[in-house]
Amino acid sequence: MKTVAIKVAGESIQARVGETVIHALWNAGKAELIKTGCAGGVCGACTITVRSPEGKMKGTDLACMCPVEEGMEVFPCPVDSALTVAPEINPNEEKLRKAYPKLDRCTKCGSCTSACPMSIPVMDSVLRMRAGQLDEVADDFTNCIHCGLCRFVCEDGVEPHMMGMWVRRSIGSSAEIEEKKKDKDSREIELEWQYLLEGSSTDRMNKALQFRKSGKIQP
Ligand code: SF4
Ligand code: SF4
Ligand code: FES
Repeated sequence: MKTVAIKVAGESIQARVGETVIHALWNAGKAELIKTGCAGGVCGACTITVRSPEGKMKGTDLACMCPVEEGMEVFPCPVDSALTVAPEINPNEEKLRKAYPKLDRCTKCGSCTSACPMSIPVMDSVLRMRAGQLDEVADDFTNCIHCGLCRFVCEDGVEPHMMGMWVRRSIGSSAEIEEKKKDKDSREIELEWQYLLEGSSTDRMNKALQFRKSGKIQP
């Protein structure tokens, strides 16, 4: 089988053509060199930066999705977790700004978009956040695996993925509360009908009069 020489965290290993950096590490008995979770591109644990065989920085990637290439150099780039801000019902740009004041520090450099392994238009979405287009933002971040690379490369300390998740959670919480409210309303209506339709005709008449006056049932 054809192999290529790669370097990971300063260690040289032989890798099989067609395998990913993570599989190359496993086969070489060096799994500990890069943190790994799902090995399928969904958990965001295996963040790396890559230098091309020509010595140029190629940018960021996920080691479990990145195929090996002769002469490439890979550097683990673990991203620390960030503090979460609790979601808000009926979110808007003001609430988002209050939760993440760094929103306005974005200088539109585009690094976050280049760094994203999921091809999310991160910078455009940050601009949509500023404009209050939060439904579109929620769509933008549907595929976000929370790897944190957009935050890692942002020199202005903006946290696009945290804001995107906040928007998604806030919109989700609002819908859940609406649903619960609808459920509660329909249960209450059911009880009112039961109350008004039970008993003799005199009882029903008295209940109807009382209900019209107070707006409440008296079970
Ligand atoms: S990396 Fe930071 S400053 Fe640059 S576009 Fe993204 S959020 Fe804005
Ligand atoms: S938006 Fe940020 S955290 Fe989400 S996948 Fe892209 S780089 Fe990773
Ligand atoms: S190990 Fe989960 S994304 Fe790479």
